[in-house]
Amino acid sequence: MKFFIDTANLDQIREANDLGILDGVTTNPSLMAKEGIKGKENILNHYVDICNIVEGDVSAEVLATDFEGIVREGEALAALHSQIVVKVPMIKEGIKAIKYFSNKGIKTNCTLVFSPGQAILAAKAGATYVSPFLGRLDDISTDSLTLIHQIVNIYSIHGFETQVLAASIRHPMHIVACAEAGADVVTCPLDPILSLLKHPLTDIGLEKFLADAKKGQ
Ligand code: G3P
Repeated sequence: MKFFIDTANLDQIREANDLGILDGVTTNPSLMAKEGIKGKENILNHYVDICNIVEGDVSAEVLATDFEGIVREGEALAALHSQIVVKVPMIKEGIKAIKYFSNKGIKTNCTLVFSPGQAILAAKAGATYVSPFLGRLDDISTDSLTLIHQIVNIYSIHGFETQVLAASIRHPMHIVACAEAGADVVTCPLDPILSLLKHPLTDIGLEKFLADAKKGQ
């Protein structure tokens, strides 16, 4: 399973990358706004800065919602850097654009996916990644993990090559459950990644080992 970080914060991207376990980055317009990145040129430069930190795929989201606009924006994003993956919303025009990008060999991430039917369409269109959102389903009292299991199962039965990129991850157990469900990628903020490190018995055990080692010195 690949680990992506879901942020536009360069320091957090560097911190995750320094751990040696980072495979890529996802961003969205809200995450860019959170970092105060405004204006077309600054936004494009920021994507390049991210690509220069990590080695893997970097999702950059289009803002247009019509086919021509999505294609225009997506081609400009893809031309920025070889690591860029064009992130396209799960809408009718988006599916058409994903098919267009797929035919041109441009990688895509179909975002805002909340149902198995949407995931089938994304795969049929040739999306590189499909992004089901866990946290936002949980927020409306819907079991998000059932969706991950359904998509993984459907893709396996039919041999779809689209990778399941579990998004809207809110806590470490989401990550573990997605791994168990067979998601290809999880994208999460830095905190849930770092939370995977934590166990009180690790801390207690290390403290005792170090104390005992001191007695022997
Ligand atoms: O990048 C999309 C997704 O991960 C956003 O997560 O927490 O805003 O639902 P969240």
